[in-house]
Amino acid sequence: MKEAIYVLDFGSQYSHLITRRIRELGVYAELVPPNFPVKKLKNVRGVVLSGGPQNLSERNALRVSKAIFKLGRPILGICYGMQLTAFELGGKVKAGRTREYGPTKIRVRKSPIFRGLKPAQMTWMSHGDQVTELPKGFEMIASSPSCQYAAMADEKRRTYGLQFHPEVIHTVNGAKILKNFLDITGAKKTWELRGFLEKTVADIKKRTGKDRVVCALSGGVDSSVAAVLVNRAVGRRLHCILVDHGFGRLNEIEEIKSFFRVSPSPSLSHQGRGKEKRAFPSLVVPFGRSAVGMNGRGKRRVNLNLQVVDARSEFLEALRDVTDPEQKRKIIGELFIRVFEREAKNPLLISPSQRRGRKSGGGKIRWLVQGTLYTDAITSGVSVGGKAAVIKSHHNVGGLPKKLGFKLIEPLRELYKDEVRKIGRLLGLPRSITERQPFPGPGLAVRIIGEITEEKLDLLREADAIVREEIVKSGEDVQQYFAVLPDIRAVGVQGDARTYGYPIIIRAVTTKDFMTAHWAKLPHDLLERLSVRITNEVPGINRVVYDITSKPPGTVEWE
Ligand code: XMP
Repeated sequence: MKEAIYVLDFGSQYSHLITRRIRELGVYAELVPPNFPVKKLKNVRGVVLSGGPQNLSERNALRVSKAIFKLGRPILGICYGMQLTAFELGGKVKAGRTREYGPTKIRVRKSPIFRGLKPAQMTWMSHGDQVTELPKGFEMIASSPSCQYAAMADEKRRTYGLQFHPEVIHTVNGAKILKNFLDITGAKKTWELRGFLEKTVADIKKRTGKDRVVCALSGGVDSSVAAVLVNRAVGRRLHCILVDHGFGRLNEIEEIKSFFRVSPSPSLSHQGRGKEKRAFPSLVVPFGRSAVGMNGRGKRRVNLNLQVVDARSEFLEALRDVTDPEQKRKIIGELFIRVFEREAKNPLLISPSQRRGRKSGGGKIRWLVQGTLYTDAITSGVSVGGKAAVIKSHHNVGGLPKKLGFKLIEPLRELYKDEVRKIGRLLGLPRSITERQPFPGPGLAVRIIGEITEEKLDLLREADAIVREEIVKSGEDVQQYFAVLPDIRAVGVQGDARTYGYPIIIRAVTTKDFMTAHWAKLPHDLLERLSVRITNEVPGINRVVYDITSKPPGTVEWE
């Protein structure tokens, strides 16, 4: 029997959260579509039916196979999952007199699922429909003033229903309730990231044999963790390629190079950047002594086989006169793939001694590392076959097409982002990399409105560095913060003279998942410091404005 819990996804915004919470409790959990073959559920410890946005009265409401309830496995239905359980087993579900939304006090009765809990509990509700008649064999185990059956149980069949959401932190004892369910299933705690890491490293070692492996490194969390992990498995047989499209932040490439260490290959590596010598703000923070290696200035380093490909002029050339945001993204995405493919197949990537190794069966690059995460890899129940509107051609840079002809290594495919960060820390990566704020693949190109020029890139880099430095220093809790350069100019007065310069837009947002976001209420004195520093220190900028738009209606990035 697989020591796992399967979560059937009926489309709730919290489905991934249920899976993550179970993993946090040490048990492996997977999110699967609602029509997942029942036969396969026989071999797992327990099944959770997630919530969902629909009502059972709707004709197209997602249903679940009744056979699930005959498997003899413990089942937990949450919100819509509870209503489905009641409905399929002969109970009744109707629209409640009042919708319950938000924090709700309930009273719970004695049940193994509420073991260790006092009768009064604070929970999080979010529903219109509710169970009005229990199926045969079930009893009420919790209620609230407006929901008679806030929880139900058939203890004999070990089948439970919760109208509230135990996975949300506002349900104060939610983790305890989930743990009680795991105890009921008897699932052993086998999900442990250190063990996962060791097993993954051993698997990659075995799968790749003597082959060589190539990886597109961007310096972001996912590709950095994936590269360092695979490096642990195959050592110098991993070749990382960083395509420098020229749209990185101030000092970014230098920092990545100095952290991951560049192997000397004159034909491929970067020829130095000249201008970017200002020493702030570092993307790699100083670190204490460690086994990973130091670069002599007290910073950690990883010994990666890294080639930085200078494609800056190629990208600038391809974007000349291009102003449309979608066109920009597409051009950058396609060119990135072309450059990467060219470099990955460049025989100079392999040193002469490595080439000699080819004759003895080793040396051929057969594998490509991708930093695919669990959330990218699975298709959630309700999104199967669904079509979302294209807001932006997102995430195209770094997402390489299958047709490159390599076999894929996706070491993070089973992991959530927070688990990837933990794996990164286990691998010795500093928090400055594992906790990095997101940065779009097309980089500053989508933060310069209108045509991209070298001059504009320089202005934006300087202003953006000040924004990042001051916000980090302030300790404000914001998840993403940066500068944007619009395609307009304004009149100003500096040192008694008229100026006609660019404004800088500051963008800072608070968010949990970047699907929605609030503009950050930054303190006025911080905004003032930003305005004074940017206008004083970046020649050509004579005005600073703050973006007070949330998402929706805006997006986080401007393009
Ligand atoms: P939007 O602008 O759509 O951004 O609200 C949401 C989050 O996604 C990031 N973003 C990208 N990330 N490739 C990426 O890997 C991209 O092309 C891309 N575009 C936007 C953005 O920075 C924010 O965190």
